[in-house]
Order: sequence, then structure tokens, then C-alpha cells
Amino acid sequence: MANPKIVYQCQSCGYVSPKWLGRCPDCGQWNSLVEERPSSGRATRSRSKAEPRLISSIKEETGKRTSTHIAEFDRVLGGGIVAGSVILVGGDPGIGKSTMLLQAAAGLKGGVLYVSGEESPEQIKIRADRLSIKSDTIALLPETDLENIIDAAEGTRPAAIIIDSIQTMYTGELPSAPGSVGQVRECATKLMFFAKKSGIPVFIVGHVTKEGAIAGPRVLEHIVDTVLYFEGDRGHSYRILRAVKNRFGSTNEIGVFEMTDSGLSEIENPSELFLSERPANAAGSLVVSSIEGTRPLLVEIQALVTPTSFGMPRRAAIGMDFQRVSLLIAVLEKIAGLHLGGMDIFTNVVGGLKIAEPAMDLGAALAIASSLRELPVPPDLFVFGEVGLSGEIRAVSQAELRLKEAAKIGFRKAVISKTNSQRLKDTFGLDITGAGNLREALEAIGL
Ligand code: TYD
Ligand code: MG
Repeated sequence: MANPKIVYQCQSCGYVSPKWLGRCPDCGQWNSLVEERPSSGRATRSRSKAEPRLISSIKEETGKRTSTHIAEFDRVLGGGIVAGSVILVGGDPGIGKSTMLLQAAAGLKGGVLYVSGEESPEQIKIRADRLSIKSDTIALLPETDLENIIDAAEGTRPAAIIIDSIQTMYTGELPSAPGSVGQVRECATKLMFFAKKSGIPVFIVGHVTKEGAIAGPRVLEHIVDTVLYFEGDRGHSYRILRAVKNRFGSTNEIGVFEMTDSGLSEIENPSELFLSERPANAAGSLVVSSIEGTRPLLVEIQALVTPTSFGMPRRAAIGMDFQRVSLLIAVLEKIAGLHLGGMDIFTNVVGGLKIAEPAMDLGAALAIASSLRELPVPPDLFVFGEVGLSGEIRAVSQAELRLKEAAKIGFRKAVISKTNSQRLKDTFGLDITGAGNLREALEAIGL
């Protein structure tokens, strides 16, 4: 039976229909109609009228941040939790979102309301014991009805609220099941209004669903203030918390953790961890300095180049953009004269890391050359630089920061773009070669 208060709106063109349709009759998009409450904003928004104010008369409040006492987590948030902010923590099921937030809750001063729609209080207690959390400030609420949750929060006024997970919550105002796009969005919007009105920060857990975009954290990204993704590889114990949107801090900031038997532990020097198992004198292995957020991270890129045994050469890139690697292979062939045509080429960013920065280009190109020639590069060498289509090596941002970090860890030689090297004010005791193009870079390291 149709609920007269509900309409279905196309998410791509805004067409409104009184009943659900598989395809929008207006723009032709499939599966784009989502139920909405026509009065949505008005019913929940506070009625108090805002007055225009001069910028100079507004007191800065962003300085007030609450610490979770997990340094990596605080840094990813931009220096702690801002009052009244809504933080989405997205990630694959089982990656450690609940663990992370329970640990953060234990670190917060003041009461925390931990709302779980997935696990019973007993299950959460078992986890808390495993994490050695003896906090008497975390109140568990097994509830999925959002109106009841907001009532409970208004009654207890906690220092923070954790909603685990948004896919299990529902509001009675929409008839659809929890986890549908309409419910997920409506619940998040209500939590947002509540956070802004009360000043209580809200953490929302969102599982990444199989379909990717649908009813997963993506539909919430524009509603919330901060979006953190918890990433990791099942085969590895480390986890990366990455800020992809932050109204109160820089994005792309990462925090590195290790999942242990007793919860997540912080890794203060991730570069050392990622390089700890690097094989000595192996061809095809190269260290690259990448900037993630505000922090340089040294990572190992490996390449394996072998003759194709039959048919089409196989190409694969793990942790890097495949198109980008294909482009580098073409540049190496055409400009540097490497014979890669009949070769299978695999590249891998070690440690399950995913890096999208163009500064990785030079490392990937040189790793491929090193594997092809079967010549290892010096173990204390690292590189960074963007490679252009005519083989030129382009400058990247924050060169000094990258060099400084690598020097600190014990690297002695660097190959970077000529432009970057000419602009340097300090060499940090490194032997730096500025290369204008790929050929010069290959020559500099004897490939
Ligand atoms: P969890 O936080 O429940 O993941 P999510 O909320 O993202 O679904 O973490 C689940 C995984 O973490 C599970 O496979 C067990 C593992 N784990 C540990 O290895 N050590 C621990 O101390 C805890 C609590 C969990
Ligand atoms: Mg969970």
C-alpha cells in the first residue's frame, strides 16, 4: 500500500513519482528512484531563525577538539574530534571498524553512547575484554530505531555517540527496510541535525556493500563532515585509516595500525614497517617516497618482467593504477628503448598499500627496468617523480619533506626530477641526482 507521505525521486534528474519505478521515465536511468519524505528537511530542522553575522564577530570554535588518546586516529581527524561533527567510518565488513571505535570510545573523556544494531551487549563486552577495556563510561545500547536512539542520547547527553552500523538503523517515517538507500540517507541526515543541534559528535559506521555505491558509505559522503575509510588487506595485519573528506582537516591523511590479538595498535613509523622485509639486492625492487596527507611514506615497489610463454603478454598492477603502469611501459619502450613487447609485466606495491600519487611513476618505471635488466638498484636509493608521455621527469610537490623523511630512515641516494633538485634549499646529507628524463634516470642508477 502506498504511503501518501512518501514520494520516489530520481537521484539523477530529480523526477518525482508517487510510486516506485524501475526506470526513470524522465531521464531513462535504471534503478535511480529512491523513496523520500517530501517534508524531509522542514520537519527536523530547528525552527530558530539564523541571523546574518559579520565574520569578524564570530568566535573561533574549531580549536576545541576532543582527543581520542589514539594519536594516529586524532591526526587523521585533523587533531581530534570537533564538537557536533559527524564522522563516517567506512570499510569492508570485518576490517576492524567496531574495534577501532570501541578503542576510541575508551580513550574519550566523558560518557560514550555505543549503539549497536549488529551485536548484542554481551558480544561487545567480549570484545571489550579482549581489548582490555575496563571503561565504566561506555554505555551500550542495542537499538535500531533511530527515534529511540536520539531520545536516549538526549536523555544521557554523552560526549560522543557511535552508531554501529548505519545499515542496521531505521526511521519509522519511511516504510522501507533498514539498509535501503532511503533509510540510510534519512537516518544519517537526522543524526547530522542532532549532532549540530546538540554539539555531540557522532561516529557512523558504514559497511561497504557489494554493490559499492548503493546504500553504502558513498551515499553519505556529502551529508557528513568527515569521511574516513578503513582499508587493509586480509592477508596482512596492518590497517590504514584514511581521511577522504574532512571539513576540519586535511584529506588523504592516513593513520597506520596493526591488528593484533588484543586490538589495533598504532604504528608510529610506517615506512620502517613497510620496508622491513625488503629483500637485499633483488632486481625489480625500488623504494619510492609518496606523500599521504601531510606525511611522507616510503614504500617498496616491485616489478617482475618475464618473457611471455605463449600468446598475449600479461600485464597486472597491484596497488597502483593499471592504466598508469601501461602508460609507463609504453614510455619505457618508445623513449628509453627497452624491449618490453614480448614480456609479462607485473607490478606490486608491497604491503597491500594502494597509492595513486603520480610521484610513484619514476619508481614503477625504474623497477620495471631493473627487473628487465636483472640488475638490482643500490639498497640505499630511493626515487620520486612524475613521468610524462615524452619521458620527461616532472617535479612533484613537497620534495624537501620527502627527502628529509628518507634521510631520517637511513637512505643515502635519491633520483628526483631536475626541476625539483634545482629548487632544493637543503640536501639533508643525501647524494641527489636530478634527472630531466627517463634515460638520464636510468643512467644515473646504471640501468
Ligand atoms: P571488527 O571490528 O568486528 O570489524 P568490523 O566492525 O569492521 O566488521 O573486527 C573484526 C575482525 O578483527 C575479526 O576478524 C577479528 C579481528 N580482531 C582481531 O584480530 N583482534 C582483536 O583484538 C579484535 C577485537 C578483532
Ligand atoms: Mg562491526
